[in-house]
Amino acid sequence: MNVTILFDSIFGNTAKVAHAVADALGRDNQVRLATMQDAGETDLSSTDLLIIGSPTRGFRPTPQIQEYLAGLDGFPNGMVAAVFDTRLDLETVQPEPLRWVIDVGGYANHHMAAALRGHGIELRGAPGAFLVTGNEGPLKAGEIERAREWARTLIG
Ligand SMILES: Cc1cc2nc3c(=O)[nH]c(=O)nc-3n(C[C@H](O)[C@H](O)[C@H](O)COP(=O)(O)O)c2cc1C
Repeated sequence: MNVTILFDSIFGNTAKVAHAVADALGRDNQVRLATMQDAGETDLSSTDLLIIGSPTRGFRPTPQIQEYLAGLDGFPNGMVAAVFDTRLDLETVQPEPLRWVIDVGGYANHHMAAALRGHGIELRGAPGAFLVTGNEGPLKAGEIERAREWARTLIG
């Protein structure tokens, strides 16, 4: 399978997840990994599975990812997609009422999935959500392994 992974990352945590996903799929598939800076020049014409990863910022994906998804073009018929985000581990958020606000606000995943569906692209697997223990990270213990496991669920 031909897999393209596009991600954005401000503090490096989403990048770590994206690399773990690439690593897990790389053994049996052709995997390309690119940041949003290179997304515009990334040709999707032979992609079977497109994976998009974003940090959740203000309940949404980064502006670069939102813009990219709004203008997504040049993908083959039958290409499927999967999404993952990184987000705060609510147990680490203080004061406690803020947890409710963050959770009710929603996450990047939902927006990315809706944008892909809007292009008629079928989603593969459950959206991935990987936790950081502070705005700049680090990732919660075990999240890299969970990312590898999640990646393997995308390949049928
Ligand atoms: C300006 C800003 C807004 C954020 N908004 C949210 C949010 O709405 N929900 C959430 O769970 N985490 C939020 N976070 C935490 C980010 O999800 C976290 O910084 C990100 O997962 C780290 O990924 P990165 O290292 O790839 O940038 C926010 C962080 C920043 C700096």
